[in-house]
Amino acid sequence: MQRTVLEQVEPVAGDTVSLVLRGADGPLAPWEPGAHVDLALPNWLTRQYSLCGDPADRDSYRVAVRHDRLSRGGSEYVHLFLRTGRTLEVSVPRNNFPLLPAPEYLFLAGGIGITPIVSMLAAAVEAGALATLVYVGRSVATMPFADELRAVHGDRVRVYATEEDGRPDFAALAAALSPQALVYCCGPASMLDAAEAAFAVQQLHIERFKPAVREFAPAKPFTVDCVRSGQTVEVGAQESMLDALNYAGYRVPSGCREGVCGSCEIAVVDGEPEHRDDIGAPPGRMYSCVSRALSSRLAVDL
Ligand code: FES
Repeated sequence: MQRTVLEQVEPVAGDTVSLVLRGADGPLAPWEPGAHVDLALPNWLTRQYSLCGDPADRDSYRVAVRHDRLSRGGSEYVHLFLRTGRTLEVSVPRNNFPLLPAPEYLFLAGGIGITPIVSMLAAAVEAGALATLVYVGRSVATMPFADELRAVHGDRVRVYATEEDGRPDFAALAAALSPQALVYCCGPASMLDAAEAAFAVQQLHIERFKPAVREFAPAKPFTVDCVRSGQTVEVGAQESMLDALNYAGYRVPSGCREGVCGSCEIAVVDGEPEHRDDIGAPPGRMYSCVSRALSSRLAVDL
């Protein structure tokens, strides 16, 4: 973790504040557009936030936090209790949503889903690509950075306030794209589902804040062989692999516990994982908060 000091808390929409976190011990770890960090809050909760500042700024990170009315304690704490001057620990950035090279980009953002897109749009423009942002929200007052983005990127940014403008026509947007274009989408589940229905799977990259609703076979117990320690950990049908490992004394970090952030990644040495995450685990890796095993044993690098 990296020590930072909360330097600025600033409203950027009706229910959203931006936080600027300055490195307390020199330059912060580098990051690329699409990356996020785990922020350890003083109330013992850890939450994931996309970085929405400038990757060239190694002195500070910027994130934005929407006050979720159904908050489990994270965003509520940020909005009600967090004050400037507080020391906060922040993880090294991770990127589950990297910007791949392309001659043309269409960015689709819904509400707070704009946060990873801010730096992606800037990077695409800087690279000389054709880039368009379609930014959707209830009203402009609820859409973080809408004015800032329009001021910087002009008519590359199309803002749809659904109360007045209705929703954008994704099918028409898809028809207007070149085959080489890439589409990056971050927003509520309904928007991600609409994007999946409209755009070709090889063009579309999405980032979920919440896991997709899916059905899995009933969970079965399995055994984890921790190859470095030589210990064996049994995972019961009713518990997660992450909980079983934590209970056995392994300090596997976690954040979302829903398979969307990547904090709990583990290297798999042998056996067949059953991936239940929404990130798409790279070969030889798994996310232990939700994923399980298809084989009766898994060997992991712990
Ligand atoms: S804790 Fe977020 S993916 Fe496992």
